[in-house]
Parts: sequence; structure tokens; C-alpha cells
Amino acid sequence: MSTEHSSTEHTGTPASSADTVAGLLGQIADVGRDPKRGGYSRPVHSDAEHTLREWFREQAARRGLDVETDRNGTIWAWHAPGGRRENAVVTGSHLDSVPGGGAYDGPLGIASALVAFDRLAERGTGGARAIAVFGEEEGSRFGVACLGSRLATGAISPERALALTDADGRTYAEVAERSGLDPTHMGPDPDTLARMAAFVELHVEQGRGLVDLGSPVAVATSILGHGRWRISISGEGNHAGTTLMTDRRDPMIAAGALVVRVRDLARAEPGARATVGRLQPIPGGTNVIASRVDVWLDVRHPEDAVTAALVEQIGAEASRLAADEGCTATLTEESFGGTVDFDAGLRDRLAARLGDVPLLPTGAGHDAGVLNAHVPTAMLFTRNPTGVSHAPDEGCEDTDAEAGAEALADSMELLADTASTAPERPLP
Ligand code: GLV
Ligand code: MN
Ligand code: MN
Repeated sequence: MSTEHSSTEHTGTPASSADTVAGLLGQIADVGRDPKRGGYSRPVHSDAEHTLREWFREQAARRGLDVETDRNGTIWAWHAPGGRRENAVVTGSHLDSVPGGGAYDGPLGIASALVAFDRLAERGTGGARAIAVFGEEEGSRFGVACLGSRLATGAISPERALALTDADGRTYAEVAERSGLDPTHMGPDPDTLARMAAFVELHVEQGRGLVDLGSPVAVATSILGHGRWRISISGEGNHAGTTLMTDRRDPMIAAGALVVRVRDLARAEPGARATVGRLQPIPGGTNVIASRVDVWLDVRHPEDAVTAALVEQIGAEASRLAADEGCTATLTEESFGGTVDFDAGLRDRLAARLGDVPLLPTGAGHDAGVLNAHVPTAMLFTRNPTGVSHAPDEGCEDTDAEAGAEALADSMELLADTASTAPERPLP
């Protein structure tokens, strides 16, 4: 860990407890609004995301936390009595968004963490704790989700991460460097992982689970295995007016048919979810027959082998549909993460501590899912009254947001008790 420190000395001073989750989110309500798509577009290392990072640093400094950005671009805000950054209970989430996303996916976890730290300071809870803000959780700019936590855990190599490009062809290396990070120092960070006794992420629920259960808060059981693939269908670029309908090799026809097949194949596989949320014709002109269409595929299933088989089937269908149009298709995996089952003992202890709140699986991906293989990890969900996420209608009632922050504080207190009695883990 290294680099920037806030100018505020670490005093451990509790901040005013007047802040509410809704109040904190209100402070950033105008940052990154997307007038075209609606909702928020806050891609990693955009001006909007940098503004949010700065807001977080200020909020953390106000609370007397020591703030630094690690070599993978994750911001850490530490409460470390005696300067001992070890055996820490860590919470965190992200500030980047999908294009046109809601207000809560990511920022709710960060605002709740700040309020939970206020509660813990008021209660005099001891031990080291930190808030982590991970970058590119959505993968909406560089295509691979949870890039910060994947880099730290070695789930992606720095070489591959740094070569990823955004829609403007800029590499992650270039963008990270322009944002003040040193790309040559990115990669696995076992020292940082070893400082964590436990990680607990609070997130807005992204479906109707809690609405249907009538509860403001739940503890997570699992994250559905999921991945992303790119199918490129190549044909012949040509003129829309002069090329007879019988003389075309139009990849858009195959792409359109493929979108429908993806839906049908996923429907035939119980428990599967498959989505084409983005496709890009090259060059993309109204009066131009595309020479290539890139189709991005998101597939999820509890059993990783079923996901693999479904993707293979979709790839075979893409080749068949492309051949029907005189085109060719290629399939490339961009990322995959298997189904994550959170530690049942930890999960049950948290649920009991929170008053026997419900247990819920999720179909959405999170940094907690990446960290789970390295650190004892848990997740909390806060009710979303609309059940909608990755869209502007995502919601969270103010009272539920406060209940979530309180539950996060209770969870961190329980984890701090456990950490204080656990045998010391040697730093590598
Ligand atoms: C992230 O929210 C995902 O599930 O893709
Ligand atoms: Mn999220
Ligand atoms: Mn998301």
C-alpha cells in the first residue's frame, strides 16, 4: 500500500453522527447524471467517478480516517488505533456505475459504511477497521467487472488488465496513469489482503427478494456464477442502396437472429440467465451494411458447467446463423467468475446478530465475491422497493438505508469481536 494521504492527521475522532445515508447520498445526487440515458453514468476514472472519489476522501478525512489509494487504485480509509493496520474488519463497495444506472448500486455501500463508522465510533468499538472503494466494479468501461479486486487477488494478471481498452481505444494502463496511478506497480497485493480479518459489503438488493419477504435487510448466501463473452460476426461491408438483397453478407441479420436464440436457449435451461445488452455494428451507419457486428453476451447459472455448456451451445448457434448469411463468427471469453457460496457459519452468525434477518442469494456480481476466496467474507442487502437495478428506477427508502447502515455497524462489531479473539495472522 502506498501513495496519497489525506492532509488530515489520524485522530480517531468520531465524526458528527448527524450524517444519514440519505443525506450523504444527497450530497452526490448531481454527480454523473446522464441526461441522455437517464440515471447515472459514472465510469471508472471519468470526471464523475473522480468527483465521487474526492467526495469520499473528504468524508473519510472529516471522520479522522487515514486515506490512501493503493497501487491497484482502491481507496482505503483506515481507523487503525496505534497505527496498526492489521486484523482489520473491512467494509466497502464501489462508486462507478453501469451506463444509465441507479443511484444506489455501489454508493449505498459507501455511504452506509461512513454512517456505520460513525456508529462504531460512538459505541467505542475497538480494533482496526477500514472502508475500501474498489474501481471498475461494473466493468462498464474496460469490460471486466471487479477489476480492482481481481487485480489485488490475482484473479486477473496486470498484463491483461493494463491492455484492456475502453470504447475510445484507450488502454487501462493509459487511463490509470493519467489518473495518477503507476501501472507498473499494479497486480497481486497479498500484503493488503493479509491485513483483512474479514470483509463485509453492504449493497442495495438488485431484485425483489426483500420486497417479497417484507424485510429491510438480508444476509447473502451466494452469488450466481457469471461471465461475459464477445461474439464477433463478420460479413461484407457494402452500400445499403446498391447491394441487392440477394447479394448481401450482412452480419446484422445473424446478430439479430442470435439475440432471439440466446433468449430461447436460456429459457430451455432451468436457472439460466442470458442477456445481450450491447451490440455494436462496425462501422455503424444507417445507409451502410455492417462489415462486422460485435455482440456481448452475459450468461449466469448456479452450476459453472451448465454455464459453460450453454455458452458453447450459443457459440455453435452463432456459427450456424452466421454461415446462413455467408458470414463467420468467433467467440471470445472476456471474464468468468464461478458461483460463490459465502461461509455458512459467518453468514448465520450475522443473520442471528441482526435479529434473524432473511438469507438471500443474488444474481449480481460484487467485489465481495472476488474477495471471498481470500478473506472471510459476507454481504448484506438493503431492500429495493422497485426491485429494479442497473436502471434509473433502482430505489431505497431512507428508513431502510438507515436500517442497513445500523446492520452494517452491528455486523462489523460482531466481526471486530471475532477478530480480537482470533490468533494473529502473520503479515507476509
Ligand atoms: C454487476 O452488478 C453485475 O452483476 O454484472
Ligand atoms: Mn454493485
Ligand atoms: Mn451493478
